[in-house]
Amino acid sequence: MIALITGATAGIGKATAQEFASKGYNLIITGRREERLDALKWELESSYNVRVLGLCFDIRREQDVKQAIEGLPEEFKAIDVLVNNAGLAAGLAPIQEGQIGHWERMIDTNIKGLLYITRYVCNLMVPRKKGHIINVGSIAGKEVYANGNVYCATKHAVDALNKGMRIDLLPHHIRVSAVHPGMVETEFSIVRYDGDEERAKKVYEGLVPLRAEDIAETIYWMASRPAHVNISDVIITPTVQANATTVLR
Ligand SMILES: NC(=O)c1ccc[n+]([C@@H]2O[C@H](COP(=O)([O-])OP(=O)(O)OC[C@H]3O[C@@H](n4cnc5c(N)ncnc54)[C@H](OP(=O)(O)O)[C@@H]3O)[C@@H](O)[C@H]2O)c1
Repeated sequence: MIALITGATAGIGKATAQEFASKGYNLIITGRREERLDALKWELESSYNVRVLGLCFDIRREQDVKQAIEGLPEEFKAIDVLVNNAGLAAGLAPIQEGQIGHWERMIDTNIKGLLYITRYVCNLMVPRKKGHIINVGSIAGKEVYANGNVYCATKHAVDALNKGMRIDLLPHHIRVSAVHPGMVETEFSIVRYDGDEERAKKVYEGLVPLRAEDIAETIYWMASRPAHVNISDVIITPTVQANATTVLR
């Protein structure tokens, strides 16, 4: 079995790669930080008896995505599971103060990047009439919170695409699922606050957030249901989080 996991250099993607490798999947892992891809490939291949292919590219560049997927070695082309995980939030500001550059990064990564990967991987899955696409959305794709405007919009788009893909891929026997996490402690907040680690730390102060492994286990569980079962949608929050804005500290 083969899984392709985007954004495997950190957080949820990395934990998902570790989870799938531990269950014997061969992996294609992607991200922009090559040294991290190399380190993870080494770690997984030496810990588990699996083959790992690292592909270093920016998911926002359509031609690079095309080249990476069309250039896959034959033994990695039969992708069983695609985990559309790469994504980010950039900034947290009211719409009238938002940075256009932040908006473009989120739209280009969370929506357009996810679409590019999906489109080219579908070229491999559809002829096989087999596969499973698991989209990583967010509770920001189910609710809108103050200053979350564009990030929430991109994750609402992922939610809509998840539903649309399920309809379009139905005749091709491809399963489509989404997991929508609440607060998970990863590099997410550091990225959101442009590298301000102190500000990022405060997001998780006084509460027990989800760990990346919690989401990874959920993703693996979705992928490992019997072939006739499609888990459409899972919302998962820490126990101390009731919704996007109600948190117990
Ligand atoms: N953490 C949370 O609280 C939370 C909650 C809900 C949803 N999510 C979603 O979960 C997903 C994973 O986030 P995370 O929390 O694990 O954050 P993270 O620790 O910052 O990891 C993000 C991953 O995405 C990759 N990535 C970002 N931009 C990319 C690009 N342009 N091209 C290729 N790869 C790119 C990064 O790799 P490189 O930097 O090496 O490229 C990294 O591996 C995201 O879609 C996020 O929106 C997170």
